[in-house]
Amino acid sequence: MEVREQWGTRAGFVLAAVGSAVGLGNIWRFPYVAYDNGGGAFFIPYLFALLTAGIPMLIMEFTMGHKYRGSAPLTYLRLNKKTEWIGWWQVAIAFVISTYYSVIVAWAMAYAYFSLGLQWGNDPGGFLMGEYLQRVDIVNGAPIGSMGSIVPGVLIPLILVWVISLAILFKGVKKGIENANRIFIPLLLVMFIIIVIRALTLDGAMIGLEALFKPNWSEIASPKVWVAAYGQIFFSLSIAFGIMITYSSYLPKGADINNNAFIAAFSNSSVELLAGFGVFAALGFMAKQANLPIEEVATAGIGLAFVVFPEILNSFPGFNGFFGLMFFGSLVFAGLSSLISVVETFVAAIQDKFNLSRVKAVMIGGGLSSLVSILFATQGGLFFLDVVDYFINTFGIALAGLVSVITVSWFLKKLTSFQDHANLTSDLRTGLWWKVCLQIVTPGVLGYMFILNLMDNLK
Ligand code: PHE
Ligand code: NA
Repeated sequence: MEVREQWGTRAGFVLAAVGSAVGLGNIWRFPYVAYDNGGGAFFIPYLFALLTAGIPMLIMEFTMGHKYRGSAPLTYLRLNKKTEWIGWWQVAIAFVISTYYSVIVAWAMAYAYFSLGLQWGNDPGGFLMGEYLQRVDIVNGAPIGSMGSIVPGVLIPLILVWVISLAILFKGVKKGIENANRIFIPLLLVMFIIIVIRALTLDGAMIGLEALFKPNWSEIASPKVWVAAYGQIFFSLSIAFGIMITYSSYLPKGADINNNAFIAAFSNSSVELLAGFGVFAALGFMAKQANLPIEEVATAGIGLAFVVFPEILNSFPGFNGFFGLMFFGSLVFAGLSSLISVVETFVAAIQDKFNLSRVKAVMIGGGLSSLVSILFATQGGLFFLDVVDYFINTFGIALAGLVSVITVSWFLKKLTSFQDHANLTSDLRTGLWWKVCLQIVTPGVLGYMFILNLMDNLK
């Protein structure tokens, strides 16, 4: 059995946790969710969700990893002989996410390259669905480049994404993950701040900001808005996939769990706020250029990044290639650092379970996920991806979070001992609120979310 690896420094762990949290969800999910759920008024349910579920759950996961020093399954096994399966369930979610998250990062990489020459032409939507994705439809046997343009297919960036991620994971926790995040996070911040500042100075930026921040108070009484806030917080903080358990299992003995959780959570929210400014400023510019109401251009996800953003770049005043590179570069670095954390989650699980070396575990876990990811690198994959992503978000996360929090707080009654464990090393001590949140608020909201989603699907 190898000695368990450790982070080299406290900052290294915090950067890695922030690297996992800050991802596509911050950049392309948060702004639209806020806009769509009450605008400025959304910040109340959002802050509430952060303080009553996000941070308490983060502290719980950090404590578990730190206390039991294992990947998610090993941690749940050490918690109680009967609960190992919860860890494997989380690992399974992480595995599924990695198979399509990697493909989106690959697209972002390809688009960073395309943006240098605005290769998507006048019709970015048509380009994405036609020229770009059809050319990589390996399921139907169309070879890359068969349509005779110089655009590289998604397969090449996908290979690159996997080579980079696995090379980092081969090197281990300190030399690999920690060092990579030390480079990725500052680079991401610099690129992202450049694009946000540029967006804020575009003509029409105010139209977008007004649309995003104008509070729609009538909406905050609606349960849908509260569910959206909790959903965003869970996804955004990478909670309930075993990721944060895995990362904190590499913490040294005296690590300050509570402070680290607050720092990671607030850094993640800061990037979301920044993204809100940047994305909606750019959308305001687009609305003004196209003479459309903001509702017609506001969107999220794949459509925002690979259709609307290229359109915005097409009409950018000057240096559009450079700003394209900054935007897609941000997506790449935000995505890579998150991808590495999900892959590490199942690599660590394989390593612990079968007592393998890191290199072998990375080869097995990474090899399997990268092979499956090819399925998503096709045109059909785009729709398939949407479906899988939807089910992972609505059922995987809510249900896995619910089961883990109920098990810890109600069945095993571990909250007091966990709280003592975390408070021992921190000058920031949690009190009664922490237990109330994990015993009542979080299970209540997650249970409600799950039932709501279920009824939505049965309709
Ligand atoms: N927290 C990441 C984000 O905001 C999402 C993520 C989910 C990362 C799952 C890793 C694993 O994009
Ligand atoms: Na996030």
